[in-house]
Amino acid sequence: MSFTIVEPAPARMNRSELAVPGSNYRFIEKAAESAADVVFLDLEDAVAPDDKAQARRNIVKALNEIDFGRKTVSVRINGLDTPYMYRDVIDVVEQGGERLDLIMIPKVGTAADVYAVDMLVTQVEDAVGRSKRLGFEMIIETALGMANVDEIAAASPRNESLHFGVADYAASTRARTTAIGGPNPLYGVLTDTPEGGGARDYHWGDMWHYAIARLVVAARANGLRPLDGPFGDIRDAEGYRAQANRAAVLGCEGKWAIHPSQIELANTLFSPSEAEVAQAEKILAAMEQAQKEGRGAVTLDGRLIDIASIKQAEVLVHKARQIAEAG
Ligand code: GLV
Ligand code: MG
Repeated sequence: MSFTIVEPAPARMNRSELAVPGSNYRFIEKAAESAADVVFLDLEDAVAPDDKAQARRNIVKALNEIDFGRKTVSVRINGLDTPYMYRDVIDVVEQGGERLDLIMIPKVGTAADVYAVDMLVTQVEDAVGRSKRLGFEMIIETALGMANVDEIAAASPRNESLHFGVADYAASTRARTTAIGGPNPLYGVLTDTPEGGGARDYHWGDMWHYAIARLVVAARANGLRPLDGPFGDIRDAEGYRAQANRAAVLGCEGKWAIHPSQIELANTLFSPSEAEVAQAEKILAAMEQAQKEGRGAVTLDGRLIDIASIKQAEVLVHKARQIAEAG
């Protein structure tokens, strides 16, 4: 281990993160009854400029009146380059009461962006005497944000999670995309002609691999949760499943749901399966036995396991326990 200890962000379930436009009060009420781990009430891109003020009023009312149960509740404010952001923070933090857990900052480009929001949030929190400190979720969705992702992740003790905002990221990097968060058939490789001739295979690649892997490293190195963002085709459950699985494999903690139908998918795909938990428990038992016998590594079902396997297994078992406790 390094002498630098990475402090983890407060433990929260974050398998699914439901996006809800702040301009639609009925949708906010329905979101509160959903199975989403985290709900973010949007003031940014799902809300038209003329509706921003009403959306703020809806969110303040919702935070004071709606029972969100055990969910984590977040508000996505507007970007720092807009004339809305300061008022989003002031109104929501001043009037929203204690129920709000997180502020989501979109299009973060530099660590100074986080610092600026931190300063404003701190002032309003202190002025109203909030007892619970708000955490930050940051969307990495521009080339600038990705270039500065390590500094952004480390910019404030409020930071809890990094989110890959694939739609804006594609626009910012001028990536050629077909659907939000989906693959592009042009991104692939053609195999060589097999010896003796025959057909060549074309394999689609994941054009988002670098971005997600990069974000996961920055997040985990700073104790934050990495999350995969939206998948646009709400009728395509199979497509969602594939994209969520590959994000989970790379280390993401969860994925956005931009439609209620995606919540259950995310909750399932980001929960360890019974077989995975059983295997992790077997590893822990085998390692406990190995340590009693003074051995650092053993084989289990023909595979080598060592101290690193314990950590992976512990993370998995802890996650399963957290999910079970949340009911
Ligand atoms: C989310 O905000 C995105 O741009 O994908
Ligand atoms: Mg965006």
